[in-house]
Amino acid sequence: MPKDKFLWGGASAANQVEGAYKEGGRGLSNIDLLPFGEDRIAIAQGRKHYTEVPDDVFYPSHEAIDFYHHYKEDIALLAELGMTAYRFSISWSRIYPTGLETDPNEEGLQFYDSMIDELLKYNIEPIVTICHFDVPKGLMDECNSWKSRQMIDQYDKYATTLFKRFKGKVKYWITFNEINMILHKPFTGAGITINKDENREEVIYTAAHYEMVASALATKRLREIDSDAQIGCMLAAGDYYPYSSDPEDVRAAQVANQENFFFLDIQSRGEYPRWALNKFEKLGIQIDITEEDRSILRDNTVDFVSFSYYSSRTSKENTEGVDTNTGNAAGGVVNPYLERSEWGWMIDPTGLRIVMNTIWDRYQKPLFLVENGLGARDVVEEDGSIHDDYRIDYLKKHIDVIETTIKEDGIPLLGYTMWSAIDLVSSSGGQMSKRYGLIYVDRDDNGEGTNHRIKKDSYYWFKEMVEKSSVAL
Ligand code: BG6
Repeated sequence: MPKDKFLWGGASAANQVEGAYKEGGRGLSNIDLLPFGEDRIAIAQGRKHYTEVPDDVFYPSHEAIDFYHHYKEDIALLAELGMTAYRFSISWSRIYPTGLETDPNEEGLQFYDSMIDELLKYNIEPIVTICHFDVPKGLMDECNSWKSRQMIDQYDKYATTLFKRFKGKVKYWITFNEINMILHKPFTGAGITINKDENREEVIYTAAHYEMVASALATKRLREIDSDAQIGCMLAAGDYYPYSSDPEDVRAAQVANQENFFFLDIQSRGEYPRWALNKFEKLGIQIDITEEDRSILRDNTVDFVSFSYYSSRTSKENTEGVDTNTGNAAGGVVNPYLERSEWGWMIDPTGLRIVMNTIWDRYQKPLFLVENGLGARDVVEEDGSIHDDYRIDYLKKHIDVIETTIKEDGIPLLGYTMWSAIDLVSSSGGQMSKRYGLIYVDRDDNGEGTNHRIKKDSYYWFKEMVEKSSVAL
């Protein structure tokens, strides 16, 4: 594939950028119910029930960075950066406000029509995530979200609407962002709260099964509606390393990797891994898998495997006395060989080469790195400049590894969409101060600010990197 086909871009999620949560006929989603502050994590993990949006609580997604009203200005900045791709998600509750409507909300579809046209005007390829964590609240009220099989039909209706509307304009679709997030944060990942009398694993793996059937069905629909487009799964990736060569640690890492790749195994190979079926049986967990589900999964595997990579993880059988505060939902223990970000995330560029090889060896499907970046605090100098050399350093090291992995290991990578072109609301903490962008947004953790956009040093660095890059498959 020639150099100009490699996609260089940025990534985002509707609930972290759009805001305008009640405009254009949009309904509430699970993420709109995640407050800023101490309850956020317990609600995200499905351990505490959400409340209905009281006036005195701050909900970061409600306004986010107001991309809904700034998208033309923002896309012009991406074009100036030389980006050839932009990954974003569609807000389900903009298209089906409660999820239950028979007909879609035309105003919601028009918003994405205009946005996609704006991207295409600059020859920026839209990479669309159908569901980046958000579920309409109406579906949570009606059927407890992905706890119910009804969700397969609801997602089918939603995805089919998108495929028909954006046929010919969108060539890359991703069914669920970081589908494995459901293991760690079932409310964030799938709108699920787990009741005290429920078996947590049974609830989560049942919901994951429905999501994977919905994903396979969407793959089938896309092939019927727009056979030129491609569709992929998406995983929060990063290999689990053994903490030591103690076989118990090696085995702990192996199990953690199997659990993480569980989703890709099914979405890419079309079958449940044997260890998982045996585990469900041993634990007495009943998963509602029908013969029809099995054939849908088997016949509709993905075209490409997309993944986010922020860091590797490390497993230890006995964690007593070892630092487990990795700051990341994926867990594990602190790896003493690695540096950490201010939020405790391990920084491991070599781990990117390792995980790309792991995924390629397992599935032999094209890869797409759709998230990678550094969350850090930025300082605006008196002259308005922002010297984020730490972000440049992080991105450079990872992009160097990508180039080596493509050239030396021969792994096909469709593109790289870094997280995130523009500062946005952090998913885990809801902060603005944990910034990922090449473009700064004047807005603080409490939602105060002008929303003015400023180019950081990393913006200029990235632009030059794209111009000079020799990445080719
Ligand atoms: C990924 C998500 O988990 O990591 C994004 O797909 C998220 O939505 C990103 O923003 C970074 O995580 P955080 O919690 O620092 O925003």
